[in-house]
Amino acid sequence: MKKIKLLLLALTVAAPLFAQTAQAQFAKPEDAVKYRKASLTLISSHFGRMQPTVKGATPYDAAAIKANVDVLKTLSTLPWAAFTAGSQAGTDAKPEIWSDAAGFKQAQQKFEAAVVKLSEVSGSGDLEKLRAAFGDTAASCKACHDSYRVKK
Ligand code: HEC
Repeated sequence: MKKIKLLLLALTVAAPLFAQTAQAQFAKPEDAVKYRKASLTLISSHFGRMQPTVKGATPYDAAAIKANVDVLKTLSTLPWAAFTAGSQAGTDAKPEIWSDAAGFKQAQQKFEAAVVKLSEVSGSGDLEKLRAAFGDTAASCKACHDSYRVKK
């Protein structure tokens, strides 16, 4: 038990440090690009797999949904520090990410807040609430993509 507590404490202390030093963790721009694409791919996977439940095609297993949203909550914070200066070339990242850094930050915060809301309702078993929070989250993905991701 004591070991677990120590481990949790270590994680709590270390997590913000990781976030702060993220920029320094990418030796090359390509490393940052790989990192953000990988985390966005995971976000997409964990978000998308809830769609059948939201659509009513599969039964609402509240515990499973909650566990998945917990993963998504952690993932939702990861990509942003990997949009490092000089890492735009050859990617779908628009120059506005850097020229309008405040707007990009706001789009991240909207998304993260939507995921927090999703996490608050996800364990409740209330499908209507889940549906609404899922829709708001999807809208926050789209809003950011519309402004900051190159359309294909
Ligand atoms: C704050 C802005 C922002 C939010 C929020 C956001 N994205 Fe993105 N997303 C981007 C940008 C910018 C790229 C392009 C990254 C690049 O090419 O370097 C991207 C790329 C992607 C990719 C392609 C990754 C790859 O391998 O090229 C997927 C998939 C994706 N986003 C899904 C999502 C989903 C699903 C959500 C919401 C659940 C979401 N994104 C939320 C900005 C965002």
